Amino acid sequence: MKKQEAIMGNVYALVLAGGSGQRMGNIEKPKQFISLCGKPVIIHTVEKFCMYTGFEKIIVLVPGQWLQHTCSLLKKYIPWHENRVEVAEGGDTRNETLMNGIRYIKEADRLDSSTVIVTHDAVRPFVTMRIIEDNVAAAREYGACDTVIPATDTIVTGDGNNNARDIPDRRYMYQGQTPQSFNALMLWELYHSLNADEKQVLTDAAKICTMKGQAVRLVQGEVSNMKLTYPYDLEVAKAMLGMGGNGSA
Ligand code: CTP
Repeated sequence: MKKQEAIMGNVYALVLAGGSGQRMGNIEKPKQFISLCGKPVIIHTVEKFCMYTGFEKIIVLVPGQWLQHTCSLLKKYIPWHENRVEVAEGGDTRNETLMNGIRYIKEADRLDSSTVIVTHDAVRPFVTMRIIEDNVAAAREYGACDTVIPATDTIVTGDGNNNARDIPDRRYMYQGQTPQSFNALMLWELYHSLNADEKQVLTDAAKICTMKGQAVRLVQGEVSNMKLTYPYDLEVAKAMLGMGGNGSA
């Protein structure tokens, strides 16, 4: 039996595509809809998730004004997955988008104490099957996990005033990637137990757990599982897809 078939249960993918991509510069559409070697970034990413047969549904969360466009893209590029991929509206922050994903499962009456969510940035199109499988297994066993790679550069923390505050031991430093995967009900309850100040300082979902003392297992990522943030990253992504880095695709 294949590894993914051995893991039973209620597992959902949440593809987080509710952002606007300000750091990508002056682009005519959010970066997840930019074409990368012939198809939109978001399609590259959703295709990776479609390869994992253990997902009950793959829920793609986008800004309200992009709902219709996203449905059309999915129909055009991956019509054979029509029954597994659903589109819903994102939120004002990344965590609000994630919570909208859990709410969507809840409203479909599918949220129970065993539900696992694998949450992933739509703008990380190079996620692998191994990373997805390891996330599902770790979220089932530990309740929460975060995909990371060891920090290559030394990490220096600052005091906010151009002075170094600390240089932590690099052996314990990692760079966070996605997926981040969770027991959905646990994350929902932890998030709603935070006050407004706590929500303000949240930069990512795993921090909801660490702030509340919930253990988060580390899953090994890949250097290639990069996030498309700046225009340079798009050039790297094109080169990785073997089409050259000149933006001609
Ligand atoms: N995201 C989301 N909902 C938001 C904000 C972000 O689902 N309200 C998603 C983005 O679409 C992206 C992922 O979270 O897939 C990672 O976020 P980031 O790269 O920071 O995306 P943006 O917010 O789009 O970019 P920027 O910070 O440059 O504006």
